[in-house]
Amino acid sequence: MKKIFEGNRRWVAEKLAQDQEYFKKLALGQKPEYLFIGCSDSRVPANEISGTQPGEMFVHRNIANMVVHTDINMLSVLQYAIEVLKVRHVIVCGHYGCGGVMAAISDKSFGLIDNWLTNIKDVMRLHELEFLRIKTDEEKARRLVELNVIEQVRNLAKTAIVQNAMKSENPPQLHGLVYDIGEGHLIDLNWQEGDQKRFEHIYNIETVSSNGIPKVLEAKEH
Ligand code: CO
Repeated sequence: MKKIFEGNRRWVAEKLAQDQEYFKKLALGQKPEYLFIGCSDSRVPANEISGTQPGEMFVHRNIANMVVHTDINMLSVLQYAIEVLKVRHVIVCGHYGCGGVMAAISDKSFGLIDNWLTNIKDVMRLHELEFLRIKTDEEKARRLVELNVIEQVRNLAKTAIVQNAMKSENPPQLHGLVYDIGEGHLIDLNWQEGDQKRFEHIYNIETVSSNGIPKVLEAKEH
């Protein structure tokens, strides 16, 4: 732990050398433009790979950057980021060489996490025909990283939080990115809103309040 506290002291000194008021200004509040949903992998630090500073990016990380609809943690971060912080961009960022994705491809058990990895196996099933055509495990893993990001952006679009926000005056934009861990580059998978429209007839829901109660029911209760 010595390394952590020494590192912190060095960092504070560096920041104060640049700007004596740095921490006082940060303490006033945050107005981030971005929500970053990334992998917990220690090699994918959201601020560092995007060149953003403290205060610029609201961050949620879990194994393999998943958007799981029963995950109250992710949903709370999403709702707060969109409705309270009013972020302009919601980014799902995967990365090549993702251990979670590779574990999902394998048939090995890793304990409790197997349940979480089932969500990635579902992505494989959704794209089964494409996977059957891919010859090597390495290529399969790379493609699954990309398809997983796309499916997680789609999962964002399925939520009432995002659907309501899309009807607002200033709708946020959704993005699917992959971080190339061996090169350092961020790659835009160019997810477009049109993709969401293809599934609208299945997933679109009536306008609801942020508490999840349909507006029509709320009105009747009064
Ligand atoms: Co990962």
